[in-house]
Amino acid sequence: MPILRTEQLEKTFSGSGAEAAVAAVRGVDLAVDAGGFVAITGASGSGKSTLLHMLGGITRPTAGRVFLEDVDLAVLGDDDLAAIRRRRIGFVFQRYNLLPELSLVENVALPLALDGVAAARSDVAAREALEAVGMAHRAGHRPDELSGGEQQRGAIARALVTSPAVVLADEPTGALDSENSARVVELLRRLVAERGQTVVLVTHDPTVAAAAGRVVRMRDGRIESDTAGTVGR
Ligand SMILES: Nc1ncnc2c1ncn2[C@@H]1O[C@H](COP(=O)(O)OP(=O)(O)OP(=O)(O)O)[C@@H](O)[C@H]1O
Ligand SMILES: [Mg+2]
Repeated sequence: MPILRTEQLEKTFSGSGAEAAVAAVRGVDLAVDAGGFVAITGASGSGKSTLLHMLGGITRPTAGRVFLEDVDLAVLGDDDLAAIRRRRIGFVFQRYNLLPELSLVENVALPLALDGVAAARSDVAAREALEAVGMAHRAGHRPDELSGGEQQRGAIARALVTSPAVVLADEPTGALDSENSARVVELLRRLVAERGQTVVLVTHDPTVAAAAGRVVRMRDGRIESDTAGTVGR
């Protein structure tokens, strides 16, 4: 039973003035099973980020549909879509996007705070999420006092704090050295194995892709190949 599914998904960015329109994603049918770990690879400009953003309801498709747990994201109004994004989806980006003026634990608690969860409860949940990524000991530090790898583990904790159905990660290891990259990948893999979470990760790095159970390769906005990885499902 797929937790995430697209039907003939398309995104065309309309050109302005002399610029031609760009068909970034052209008819993608993709089904991701609950508890899966899927890597999306492909050349720069092949549509990976655009696809991921549509999977997460950040970008609205030009055509086609995205179902998350059988909810059709395309028919949702902006408020409902924002609520689903906040509660059911965790995002991790290449640049960790932690707010510099907040401590790590405050950053991690933020998605809950924005959702109206009481401070004491969101603090407990944030500390648990930090524990899960091995960062509890740095809870009170500000992001600029942490290494890149530590910040990314913090960003993963923030993505996890709502216990989302799906974690979507766009080049989460892109700014990390190989050692920190391996740690982040191991962490994501553990989420899938131990918490039954579903992870879809975009990466240029073949080592990272090899850790996934399935590798989807994009080319010119389409799926060029879709193969079982070397590990897991
Ligand atoms: N907001 C936008 N407006 C116009 N064109 C865009 C926009 N966002 C992306 N594109 C174009 O859509 C195509 C796919 O972009 P996308 O960011 O999805 O590629 P990608 O596979 O993630 O590349 P990279 O590996 O470099 O991150 C590219 O040609 C890009 O220039
Ligand atoms: Mg990209």
